[in-house]
Amino acid sequence: MADEEKNQALMDKIVALCKRRGFVFPSSEIYGGFNGFWDYGPYGSRMKRAIENLWWHEMVEMRDNVEGLDSTIICNPTVWKASGHLDQFSDLMTDCKKCKARYRVDQMEDPTTCPACGSKEMTEPREFNLMMKTFVGPVFDDEHVAYLRAETCQPIFVDFHSVQVATRQKLPFGIAQIGKSFRNEINPRNFTFRSREFTQMEMEFFCDGEEGMKWFEYWKEQRIKYYREKLGFPEDFMRIYVHEKLAHYAHAAIDIEVKYPFGWGELEGVHHRGTWDLSRHSEFSGQDLQYIDHDNHRKLMPTVIETSVGLDRTMLALLSLAYDEEKAATQKADMEEDTRVILHLPAAVAPIQVAVLPQSKKLKENAYNLYKSIDRHFRSEYDETGSIGKRYRRQDEIGTPYCITFDFDSLNDNAVTVRDRDTMQQERVNVTQLRDYLEKKMDI
Ligand code: GAP
Repeated sequence: MADEEKNQALMDKIVALCKRRGFVFPSSEIYGGFNGFWDYGPYGSRMKRAIENLWWHEMVEMRDNVEGLDSTIICNPTVWKASGHLDQFSDLMTDCKKCKARYRVDQMEDPTTCPACGSKEMTEPREFNLMMKTFVGPVFDDEHVAYLRAETCQPIFVDFHSVQVATRQKLPFGIAQIGKSFRNEINPRNFTFRSREFTQMEMEFFCDGEEGMKWFEYWKEQRIKYYREKLGFPEDFMRIYVHEKLAHYAHAAIDIEVKYPFGWGELEGVHHRGTWDLSRHSEFSGQDLQYIDHDNHRKLMPTVIETSVGLDRTMLALLSLAYDEEKAATQKADMEEDTRVILHLPAAVAPIQVAVLPQSKKLKENAYNLYKSIDRHFRSEYDETGSIGKRYRRQDEIGTPYCITFDFDSLNDNAVTVRDRDTMQQERVNVTQLRDYLEKKMDI
């Protein structure tokens, strides 16, 4: 199979697995879905929450100089005027009059010819603003127009002063937020990679401009380290793209890209945004957002270093890296090949970390009690239906790193068999040691 076909096949398999096992499926599917919107099912929402928690733990809880924020999705529309989104956040689009396909002009080699049908009948390029509009209040007119936020960072800038005063943080310090963002993407594609509703995890770090480049380098290194050490991304799965064309206010910018099944794509941006954001919000709100440096008797407009990552893209990256198939001979007489699907997910983000499986339904009560005692410490699941082999397969497919089998011997020796997803090795562990054993193995 050619590389392109292989990659498409991998993407199709990930999409199918996500649907079959309740990770991610189209929103409003019984009504035919809604382009660019995705629902996260039971395993997907667990995994998403685990990624969020990991990011929050690393970026906020483990740091004395980063505070959290949970702002509204809809805010005063002037915010988006000040940020430039209302005037500049748009793409130039052209439509094919014949086959109705729509394209971003900057992504076309030749905007006079339709790449799909070859027609030369293209509409004049038009601007499409990516902000999603709504109305706030009882009247649906221009005066009541508001917007769903297009990025989670703008409320961070708007609330900068309140957070600084409330926490008495001194420069340098950061404010982080996780939440939904909305963009009227013209061409949602590649599963959840480009959606219209998605979750961002952003951190804005405020510092003295003199130290801007130092902090930019610091955060770049921190974020790369996070992907390598916390999510286990290997060298050849990740690369850094250095922006040469910068926004007029920016001093430096890099993207962390990963190898999705469709090719390299952006996962996170680390940007040195200068004083642009706070200056604009000062100008539009009439409030002075400068920081008062009491120690040095001066006022300054803080410089901002941003780390911005999509949660949906993190999950897609993890699934792309984790998906694996192994061929195993079946027990059946014809010995046809059977495919074992495995998600090699890191334990920290696996939707289920431990599955408890009784060897026989006769052991149901003891096994279930064991499961209940484990469930308090790990994301766990109990499964008693089907053969042990089938149950292992089910767990492999959703990325469960450890399966525990409670068997008849367990009744006598108070020990269980722990099976490792990746090595398939089995170890006998005493129930009293189980929690310790699993914590060490999972490194959590
Ligand atoms: N505050 C800066 C900002 O929003 P961005 O590059 O537009 O920068 C940051 O977005 C991150 O948000 C991206 O790296 C990506 O992970 C995620 N993201 C952006 N647009 C997305 C979309 N349409 N669907 C899914 N994730 C998206």
